[in-house]
Amino acid sequence: MFIVLLSPMALLPWFPGVASGGEAAPSLRSLASPLELSIGTCVNGRTLRSDGEYRRVLAREFNSVTSENGMKWRAIQPRRGEFDFSRADALMEFAEENGMAVRGHTLVWHSYNPAWLEEGEWSPEELRGLMREHIFKTLDHCRGRVYCWDVVNEAWTEDGGLQKGTVTGRSGSVWPRILGEEYVELAFRLAREADPDVKLFYNDFGFEGMNAKSETVYAKLKASLAKGVPIDGVGLQMHVSLDDPVKPEELSANIRRLGELGLEVHITELDIRIKEPATEEDLRNQARLFSDYLRVCLEDEACPSFTLWGFTDRSSWIPGFFEGYGSAAPFGRDLNPKPAHGAMLEVLRERLES
Ligand code: XIL
Repeated sequence: MFIVLLSPMALLPWFPGVASGGEAAPSLRSLASPLELSIGTCVNGRTLRSDGEYRRVLAREFNSVTSENGMKWRAIQPRRGEFDFSRADALMEFAEENGMAVRGHTLVWHSYNPAWLEEGEWSPEELRGLMREHIFKTLDHCRGRVYCWDVVNEAWTEDGGLQKGTVTGRSGSVWPRILGEEYVELAFRLAREADPDVKLFYNDFGFEGMNAKSETVYAKLKASLAKGVPIDGVGLQMHVSLDDPVKPEELSANIRRLGELGLEVHITELDIRIKEPATEEDLRNQARLFSDYLRVCLEDEACPSFTLWGFTDRSSWIPGFFEGYGSAAPFGRDLNPKPAHGAMLEVLRERLES
């Protein structure tokens, strides 16, 4: 008879999360939590439901989650006045079972809206009412379970105009088209009225380094704060391309000046896309960038939250949105860690030892 003398752990030295000798290898979460860093990822609702391996790595590696699409307007209010929190609830329950924080994303955006909202012939007054109802219902439902919300997503362009969004057959989404500039401020005031305790964020892309858009957004936020608009923080999405990455020193300077406005700064949607097929060298360069960005965040106390837009190439929006690109996450399709994971662990370890 064949007898297995080795313990199952000894057979698994290569297995992610289990070191030889049977001790659990450090995870991002196990090193980030003592540093009081929220280390997060967006979560795809369908994958969460169907894929046990995905759930296991997610709970092991992260202490914070964002719903990829399940808290957007189209998911929460697919028909006028009919609210559906089932996808939000599934994620909040998973987070509670696994001791994770939840970032709310997103209340008012020019995209991912239901057709009834975008195609309605609303008067400004009606539209303000719809915004109020949606924000109140959503914040009420998630009260105490979501600690911060991306209240407004992607409002401004680099020249200081309003981002219109691409709504077929229209000159932009209802918010900029019908309400103009006032919609941004209104959303924050309504959110504060609906929940005085939750943190309110402005979230955007393309202004992570020092450029025209970051000047504009900085000026807009500063002006809003001076007017008393209740904004607690700013989210830097960080959808980065390895071809032309955000420079870590510029990210650092930007976080510093936003922090000096009294804002919390969160990295909210980091991914680093690579032109396929990704080479070993690409993966090494990607790893260096992930670790540089993490170090920049850790070095500034204004930056307590570092969230990835997906942790595995198994479930990533990149190939569908950026033709020819992929490999943007720190875990592969097989859920094994890529060099980026080890590089981020190293930064966390250094920080813990310093
Ligand atoms: C993306 C999701 O990842 C996709 O699944 C969806 O089809 C479109 O939205 N900026 C944001 C996110 O704020 O909500 C977007 O998420 C990615 C860009």
